[in-house]
Amino acid sequence: MNKYKHLINSKISALSVVFLCAFQSTLFAVEGTGIIAGPYLQHVTQTSMVIMWETNVAATSTVKFGKARFVPAPGRNKPEPKAPLDRVVSLDKMINIHEVRLENLEAQTDYFYQVLSVSKDGKILESDVFIFQTAVREDSPFAYVVMGDNRTYPDRFKKLTDMAYAERPNFVINVGDVVSDGKVKEQWITEYLAPAAELMHRVPTYVSIGNHERDAKWYYRYVSYPGNENYYSFDYGNAHFTIVDSNKDLSPGSKEYEWIKADLASSKAKWKFVAHHHPPYSSDSDDYGNTAYSLSTRMAPEVKSLIPLYEQHGVDIVWCGHIHDYERTWPIRGGKVDEKNGVIYIQAGGGGAGLENFAPTRSWFTAKLLRYWQYCLVTIHDGTFRMMAYDIDGKMYDFLELKK
Ligand SMILES: [Fe+2]
Repeated sequence: MNKYKHLINSKISALSVVFLCAFQSTLFAVEGTGIIAGPYLQHVTQTSMVIMWETNVAATSTVKFGKARFVPAPGRNKPEPKAPLDRVVSLDKMINIHEVRLENLEAQTDYFYQVLSVSKDGKILESDVFIFQTAVREDSPFAYVVMGDNRTYPDRFKKLTDMAYAERPNFVINVGDVVSDGKVKEQWITEYLAPAAELMHRVPTYVSIGNHERDAKWYYRYVSYPGNENYYSFDYGNAHFTIVDSNKDLSPGSKEYEWIKADLASSKAKWKFVAHHHPPYSSDSDDYGNTAYSLSTRMAPEVKSLIPLYEQHGVDIVWCGHIHDYERTWPIRGGKVDEKNGVIYIQAGGGGAGLENFAPTRSWFTAKLLRYWQYCLVTIHDGTFRMMAYDIDGKMYDFLELKK
């Protein structure tokens, strides 16, 4: 793996940590002192970027970075790309999981960066040089990917994240269950950060926390989002994104419900998107009543209370997961299809975990089903929204266009 080539000390000493993980049928080992996760990008704005990484010894945190530019090269007839890492942000605290926020950046601009940590005994641990782009201006087109429920099967997740990165999205939303058990620290690397590394070095990724994350401290250690990190919102381009923690109490009057209500009411963005783990509408065969023996509620009760808020505040799409397959609903309002004013719910839980199945009969709200591993790509320009959904073999199996 690229990111391990800068290991300073390959000797195994008593203090050295041997870190083993397996994915894609390959065993690789980090021996000695090194960077064992990342660097990876978290919350991005037009003027800032959060960069994280992990070292297997306590060390300082430094990011060297600079605006990508072309520098005339004497004797050459073409300018050469350069990565002048002429700015530095450093934190002296000795820690393992590093988080550095770069500020005073320019909107919609490419920056090169490199992370560097110095351990107590003076070893310098540094990454390769990577590139990121700050958030686009309000009137610019942009693209994002939605995927989720990648847990337990990092080989499939790696394939899907490589496919997602090939689309060069501006950012990614993961609808949760990124690890099998959020309390098992190693899984945050083996199931999430390592398989998605090529994408996450260069593309900011947001998670809506799933039940498998178990509200563990490692979630909060490994991510960096606005607010309290389990529910938060951000603007990107001409859109507003509200990320909900659907594992918590969402009844009217609860802290999070009131926050969601205020957040949706306050946004004047042209497009409004919500993401949370549990599906408000789902045709799954057994999670909401075993359809082999009985009826199903065909929705996750955890999030039922939010549906009126989405309808009232003009949410365009609600992204969700939890069920390991794909389902897109018709636009829904007041418990029935309303093509003009309805909210569309898209369950994109085909990120790698074992597939689930649909009830044997069709739900009234279903527009499209796919029982396979998948991800969704969204492109937005002004009042045009397009969603293309791809399976793990690269076949586009669903398409949605909205205009406003
Ligand atoms: Fe789940």
